This record gives sequence, structure tokens and C-alpha cells, in this order.
Amino acid sequence: MESKTAIITGINGQDGSYLADLLLKKGYTVYGMERRCSRKNRVNTSHLEDKITFINGDLADQNSLLRCIKECNPDEVYNLGAMSFVGESWNTPETTSDINALGVLRILETIRESGKNIKFYQASTSEMFGKVVETPQRETTPFYPRSPYGVAKLYGHWITKNYRESYGLFACNGILFNHESERRGKEFVTRKISDGVAKIKLGLADHISLGNLDAKRDWGYAPDYVEAMWAMLQQDTPDDYVIATGECYSIRDFLRKSFACVGIDNWEDYVKQDKRYMRPAEVDYLVGDASKAKDVLGWEPTVSFDEMVAKMVSHDLEILGNLK
Ligand code: NAP
Ligand code: GDD
Repeated sequence: MESKTAIITGINGQDGSYLADLLLKKGYTVYGMERRCSRKNRVNTSHLEDKITFINGDLADQNSLLRCIKECNPDEVYNLGAMSFVGESWNTPETTSDINALGVLRILETIRESGKNIKFYQASTSEMFGKVVETPQRETTPFYPRSPYGVAKLYGHWITKNYRESYGLFACNGILFNHESERRGKEFVTRKISDGVAKIKLGLADHISLGNLDAKRDWGYAPDYVEAMWAMLQQDTPDDYVIATGECYSIRDFLRKSFACVGIDNWEDYVKQDKRYMRPAEVDYLVGDASKAKDVLGWEPTVSFDEMVAKMVSHDLEILGNLK
């Protein structure tokens, strides 16, 4: 068993909660950083309340990060906190940049100033490939971000690489393709669909409103992806890795599979397209090549697309059914 200490920013998010589960299993002492808010949002982390220590910190506030690192004395910092919703980034481009770009710089500076050998993981993203110039996308593929979110994440990616090269920090970028789960936020398309399908099946709704149904994504299962984050920080040398399944499906495919889980074949009758959910610029097609992660980290996805869709729909049926 390990006896390391880790700080996870974005603890209450999908990935933060799964990573905490994983690190606890490995014997870590875990500190979960959350922002102060008027009502605590611990839907994903209520089961962790007596297992980890929650600390207050904000990626927009340098001093709060200094204090967190001083108080927790971590061996590893996983920066999963972000304004993570691409669609919202056109409405709040400045805040998105502050948190997703400068927030990364703030943590790196805090680690550098501490003078300690703290390993750092940055949540980079396939959104940086944007209007793709090569398929499948790998670590060497040039970036072409298509949203304020993607542009801000690109800064986070490069500043992480730059601090590794400038100061010798053990800092890694995980370029993760979309990953989903029962803990996914409901504004993201997959959970919006699984929640909508469950509502329709239970008679709580009669349709789902969506935007572009033709976009294609490489969707994996989040608990598999946090394994890769941890593995990156256990290597002898820091590096950047693409994490993906290598398979690509459209929103229509996700809809078809989700509705099929509840015995509905004529899914088109339950879906309305709504301009409000269209984006000013779209990422049409993402599919990753995770060969490097497979070779170096020994990482493999374990949950198939069909299994993941089934898990999400049955979870939403269960929680909504219990509320009925
Ligand atoms: P998520 O569920 O939206 O979680 C993001 C977390 O960041 C939330 O808990 C949020 O807390 C926190 N946060 C937001 N602003 C913050 C701030 N100023 N200071 C501290 N914390 C802040 O996202 P996720 O799916 O777990 O993704 C984790 C990370 O991976 C994100 O950086 C995301 O951009 C990146 N990523 C995700 C995917 C994916 O497909 N899931 C793929 C590639 C990269 P509040 O509740 O306070 O807002
Ligand atoms: N959210 C949402 N809501 N998306 C919709 C909808 C809708 O009603 N209708 C169609 N879509 C399309 C979007 O236009 C996009 O092409 C696709 O569904 C996926 O949207 P999201 O689920 O919001 O995810 P994303 O790909 O934009 O971003 C996610 O993956 C990135 C990695 O590629 C997020 O998790 C990011 O944080 C992450 O970096």
C-alpha cells in the first residue's frame, strides 16, 4: 500500500470523485479542494465525507492555493478543477480563461515556490484538437481549439509543459478524450440523454431538446480514465499522454443505444432540435489514439461504449424511479 498524500482540485466533479475513490483504495491520504459556495454540492462525494479532508480553495485565488499546499504538504496534486462546460465558455470567456488557463499557472507557481518535489497532473483535453488536422489524434497532432474553453485549456497544457522544461517540475498533461459516467453533470450531452430517456420511460417527460446531433466523440468510462491520471504520476519521467478508446460514435448513436435500453426503437419521435443548444463553433469529430498510454502506462479501457450507455440509463432510471 502507498502512503502518499494527494490534493485533488475539482473534488466534487465527476473525475475528482472517482480519483478520490481510486487513491483511497491505494492507501493515499486525500485532500479534496472545493470552492466556497452558498450550498455545498457534494452529490458525487457524499460517500467520501468521512474518508477525505475537504479544503477550501479557488483556482482564481493564488493565496488560497498557497495555503492549501502549505497545509496539506502533498506528494501529488491533480488539477481537475475547471469551468468544464464547453457551451458555457462562450458566455463566460473571461472567467473560463482565468480558471482554466491562469488557474493552472497559479498552481504551478505555488508548487515551484514551495521548492518541494510535488508531482503535478493537469487535466488537458481532446477539445484542444478542435477542428482536427489529423485522425486519429495523438500526442503529436497539432492543436486547433474551437472554443474559449479549448483555447484556455491549451494555455494550461503549454504552461504545464513549459514549467516541466523550464524548472524540471514533474508535471504531466493527460489529454483525455470525453469520458462519461453515472456521475456526469446533467448539462453534458450523454447524461442529458440518459436522464431524458429515463424520464420519458417513467412518464416524467415527453421529449429531449438537443442541439447538433451529428457531432462525433470518442467516449470512454470515467473510472477507467482516472486510473490513467494516477499511472502518469507513477512513471520515472513526466510526459504527456492521450487517453481514449479509439472508437467514435455520434450523438445519434448515443440516442439510439440509450432509447434501446428502455425498449424504444423510434427514438426520433422523442427528440427535438433546439437552436439554443447549437454552438457558435463546433468540434465535429474526435477520435484518439492511446497507443503511447497503452505501451508506457499499460493502460486499457475496460468498459465498452454499450456497457457505459446501459450503466448510465439504468442509474438514471433507478434514481428517478425512487423519487416517483
Ligand atoms: P466537472 O464534473 O465539471 O468538475 C469540475 C470541477 O471543477 C467542479 O467540481 C467545479 O466545482 C470545480 N471548479 C470549477 N471552478 C473552480 C475554481 N475556480 N476553483 C476550484 N474548483 C473549481 O468536470 P469533470 O468531467 O470531472 O472534468 C475534470 C477535469 O477534466 C476538468 O478540468 C475538465 O475540463 C477536464 N476534462 C474532462 C473531460 C471529460 O470528458 N469529463 C475530458 C477532458 C478533460 P464547482 O462545483 O464549484 O463549480
Ligand atoms: N451539452 C450538450 N447539450 N451538448 C450537445 C447538445 C446538448 O443539448 N446537443 C448536441 N450536443 C453536442 C455538442 O454540440 C457537442 O458536439 C457534443 O454534443 C458533446 O457535448 P458535451 O457533452 O457538452 O461535451 P464536449 O465534447 O463539448 O466537452 C466535454 O468533453 C471535452 C473533451 O473533449 C467536456 O467534458 C469538456 O470538459 C472536455 O474537455
